[in-house]
Amino acid sequence: MKYGFFDDNNKEYVITTPKTPLPWINYLGCTEFFTLISNTCGGYTFYKDAKLLRMTRYRYNDTTLDTNGKYFYIKDGDTIWNPGWQPTKTELDSYECRHGIGYSKFTGAKNDIEAALVTFVPIGDPVELTKVTLTNKGNSKKDIQLFSYVEWCLWNADDDMKNYQRNLSIGEVEVVDSTIYHKTEYRERRNHYAVYSVNSKIDAFETSRDEFRGAYNGPDKPAAVIAGKLNSTIASGWYPIASHQLNVSLNPGESKTFVFALGYVENAEDEKWEKPGIINKKKADALLAKYQTTEDFDKAFDGLCKYWNELLSKFHIDSKDEHVNRMVNIWNQYQCMVTFNMSRSASYYETGIGRGMGFRDSCQDLLGFVHLIPDRARERIIDIASTQFQDGSAYHQYQPLTKKGNSDIGSGFNDDPLWLIAGTSAYIRETGDTSILKEMVPYDNDMSVATTLMEHLKRSFDYIVNHKGPHNLPLIGRADWNDCLNLNCFSEHPGESFQCFGPSEGPVAESVFIAGMFVKYGREYAALAKLMGDSAEEARVLSEVDKMIAAIEKDGWDGEWFVRAYDAYSHKVGSKECEEGQIYIEPQGMCVMAGVGVDDGNAVKALDSVKEKLDTKYGVMILQPAYTRYHLELGEITSYPPGYKENAGIFCHNNPWISIAETCIGRGDRAFEVYKKTCPSYIEDISEIHRTEPYVYSQMVAGADAKFHGEAKNSWLTGTAAWTFTNISQYILGIYPTLEGLSVNPCTPAAFGDFNVTRVYRGVTYNIEIKNPNKVQKGIASLIVDGQEIQGNIIPFDGSKNTVNVIATMR
Ligand code: BGC
Repeated sequence: MKYGFFDDNNKEYVITTPKTPLPWINYLGCTEFFTLISNTCGGYTFYKDAKLLRMTRYRYNDTTLDTNGKYFYIKDGDTIWNPGWQPTKTELDSYECRHGIGYSKFTGAKNDIEAALVTFVPIGDPVELTKVTLTNKGNSKKDIQLFSYVEWCLWNADDDMKNYQRNLSIGEVEVVDSTIYHKTEYRERRNHYAVYSVNSKIDAFETSRDEFRGAYNGPDKPAAVIAGKLNSTIASGWYPIASHQLNVSLNPGESKTFVFALGYVENAEDEKWEKPGIINKKKADALLAKYQTTEDFDKAFDGLCKYWNELLSKFHIDSKDEHVNRMVNIWNQYQCMVTFNMSRSASYYETGIGRGMGFRDSCQDLLGFVHLIPDRARERIIDIASTQFQDGSAYHQYQPLTKKGNSDIGSGFNDDPLWLIAGTSAYIRETGDTSILKEMVPYDNDMSVATTLMEHLKRSFDYIVNHKGPHNLPLIGRADWNDCLNLNCFSEHPGESFQCFGPSEGPVAESVFIAGMFVKYGREYAALAKLMGDSAEEARVLSEVDKMIAAIEKDGWDGEWFVRAYDAYSHKVGSKECEEGQIYIEPQGMCVMAGVGVDDGNAVKALDSVKEKLDTKYGVMILQPAYTRYHLELGEITSYPPGYKENAGIFCHNNPWISIAETCIGRGDRAFEVYKKTCPSYIEDISEIHRTEPYVYSQMVAGADAKFHGEAKNSWLTGTAAWTFTNISQYILGIYPTLEGLSVNPCTPAAFGDFNVTRVYRGVTYNIEIKNPNKVQKGIASLIVDGQEIQGNIIPFDGSKNTVNVIATMR
């Protein structure tokens, strides 16, 4: 069942009922100012950091209730309704929500009044704009009232929901004409405030939530709206809000438009005040002055659309498969940009106060957006590397505002260092910019011990060389990619964090997954060393890689698949010897992607085992059989009921690893089958089962052991976005950036047909035509570049051209 449809021409998903199974959200904002917005106008706004600079309040722990939001109420006689349905939930005569790329549009109608909202964050300004157009579609004159509503968050979102003994006394606002200023804590250590304004004279305002709603009322029954009159109260403490009242008369057929602006303003320390107690509003006035008319709004909106169209045109496919076209050209790339901005901080499932930027997460996210915004990828790499420790290990997370490592969670996740190599290598393959390797980068933000980024990569690699266990496999530490495989934790008491409890190091527990990573990213690091002219380092690295391959072959192979790990007693995890959890997905994907087993047939065996034991119609499960009881020696992974999350859920992030691995052994049919199973557009028809947004990936889909097999959770912020884009663009469609140039080597289903790709690479536009006359799955028979046949798959980079035309014919 569907709750809407894709409008590919407008790059929108159109939701046709407010009653979606879960709130279906979108993100507004591209750089510093962000809003989450649901299909019923729920959500919230923050500047730069969802924890430390939260502007409006949202109530978590109630995903389906979806409150608060930025609401518009219309009072028409005795009827009160919202164009986005929430919070009054008055039945609408018509409703539509269009989530687009960086904007959302809502159209609601009731009793002959139509209200159309368009909302977005313009490029370059810390402000969210909403255009509200009210139209009288009936035959008689209407006198209605329009009320806006936002509830301010007292900046630090964590403190905001805990520290009531203080917080209920500190709220402060100012109001001048149509602008409401939220200035809580500005009198002391803050130099920023928020504004909410409308480009029209208002009839009244409200800044006190209790006045607006009345005691014991929720936002669904605000007393002042029911009374049709705001009291223009200046809040003092308690819960500050901002609401405008506009009395609107509309003749039959008449429309009126208002532009609302919700902004963030920062002042220099010595320019904080206009006079004692009155904030300096110059910057706010200048910001608001830019968006006073509908024309200003429309111009900024066009600017946003132009920005996105240009960005998304950097990779464009034209094939016979509408799902692939839609996901590759629009939604998958868009989701990559959102995960770049948010990491795992703010979604409807991540509260924005728990996790900042993950070290491994951000490095992997980079794989999905580096072709779109290479400059910001560069900056991100330096930020991430700056939190690394001198021994090569890394803080597991850092805070976006301060860019400092988060000591609450600390380090000891032994896969982390290798992801830095993965991200940096992807950046250099994409851009050719080796200057980044010579940048001086601090350790733990201490510039006095800075070294080149290349040295950071060396220490990343050597961290693994120096931390091996009894089988010469990498020690796992607190966990590897699978945060829930906690082999040194041994937690027995509720409340202990699986990620932080117990020693951060253990001398025995090893990870075959990290071993696979070491081979893959070790080789990429060796290639960078070669590129930098350091052949001694290249040779050293490759010999370490060979040792690791030997260790995997000796103790990491279980006969039909790769072992997952060795626990703290040196017992195998993910082996046929185990009682539960006999096979795991991660080492099958990573080892084969690294090339291990490709020549001796083990890769085929491992991937066949994946198909036989882990596959379901909704995707490939992370492990089988599911753990039915808590295993002290394995940690959080066994804490989940069977079929959920890391305990045998379909963890979408590593499905592309299997798909990529299949391309490494040339099986395009199977690679694509795996791709399709979790691909949002392909599963739109089962939205009532899948339940999360049909235009983006979710972190997890419940596995075969779960009660709700096929139901997704944790949409939007997942490494799935970047890895799927990598899979489809670089491996299935086969346009892979190498250090020397673009490689063209697709691995598609036999029946996929011919297709064209436009790919901007290092500033040059490649128009690539791929023909598959004999319906093969892999292999290029000829590659013609600007009329000349070349040998091999790699088109050597030539920066003197603007456009390169390529015809690739498969065997
Ligand atoms: C985390 C990732 C981790 C994955 C698997 C996600 O929630 O953000 O860092 O690799 O779970 O445990």
